[in-house]
Amino acid sequence: MNVDGTPYRTIWTTGDDRTVRIIDQTKLPHTFTTTDLTSLDDAARAIADMLVRGAPLIGATGAYGMALAMRTDPRDENIANAYETLFATRPTASNLGWALDDLRQRLLVTSENDREAVAYKRASEICNQDVDACHSIGVHGAALISSVWEEKGQPARINVLTHCNAGWLATVDWGTALAPIYKAHEDGIPVHVWVDETRPRNQGASLTAWELSKHGVDHTLIVDNVGGHLMQHGDVDLCIVGTDRTTAAGDVCNKVGTYLKALAAQDNGVPFYVGLPHSTIDWRINDGIHDIPIETRAEREVTHIAGKTEAGETIEVQLTPDNTNALNIAFDVTPARYVTGLITERGICNASTEGLRGLYPEKAA
Ligand code: MRU
Repeated sequence: MNVDGTPYRTIWTTGDDRTVRIIDQTKLPHTFTTTDLTSLDDAARAIADMLVRGAPLIGATGAYGMALAMRTDPRDENIANAYETLFATRPTASNLGWALDDLRQRLLVTSENDREAVAYKRASEICNQDVDACHSIGVHGAALISSVWEEKGQPARINVLTHCNAGWLATVDWGTALAPIYKAHEDGIPVHVWVDETRPRNQGASLTAWELSKHGVDHTLIVDNVGGHLMQHGDVDLCIVGTDRTTAAGDVCNKVGTYLKALAAQDNGVPFYVGLPHSTIDWRINDGIHDIPIETRAEREVTHIAGKTEAGETIEVQLTPDNTNALNIAFDVTPARYVTGLITERGICNASTEGLRGLYPEKAA
């Protein structure tokens, strides 16, 4: 998508096709800067410290992390080491394990001499496939937004609520939840987005608001707890969120707070949709509440907050009394019964075993 008129992806290789360049998302929204990854450790740190984040982008960075590892040491031992190092960075997004499994499988049947080239080629394919998948999610989701807009008599604006950042910054391009919004915007539908700030790391306030503004999509930032009130007053036409791991039965794990939005949506008859590519589906599990590993992050993300001073300097300040304990659970699970539909690259289905198998029949076995 565009940043000041220039199209960007979130991850790409530079001149020698071996150095991996990313947008450092910890610096947004106040500074747009890129940084280079030249080693396995760089890639692992970028994921763990959230320079890159969002399920599909974590997967893509994991794939390039394997490629960076093969540059210096293509032996079997280093395939295992790279896999474990990258897998340990963040536990919840399915896409990381999916990408690492894919790379490991291919590398183990490739001669040592060819492993570097094979890994870079596959990482690049994973990125391109993610862009295609997210674009298709956009096409299917925009048709949905358009039909809701038509059903409501083409109001002056159609209000979509989203949580966290599931835009192009969370993927390689387009996004999952935001792809339908970008496509609808392109199609001339007057879409307006309610952007949940998404405490504690504020991915909504920092990233979603930034990318929507850079692309010229109408939006309003809201605090996390206001969504229920807006829904009670008819100010939300539909919710669309992303997901980090979706079970084979359609339970959806996403940034903490998503579940409460789904409950409020159900109570108010607001459709609640989830956008995702196939790499986010964990076909091995059905019960999201008990079987999805949920990340707990540092207390400091809750007790402190970063922002820009009037002088333009970015600083971090403490919000709480000294020595306050905080619990920082990063994701929650929305049971399938609260999800109106899953918007995938193959179309929209019910959040259920039958719905997912209908779109991905090759997984039914
Ligand atoms: O902790 P983050 O910022 O990696 O969490 C991201 C999310 O929860 C997104 O909603 C999710 O990855 C869907 S991405 C397209």
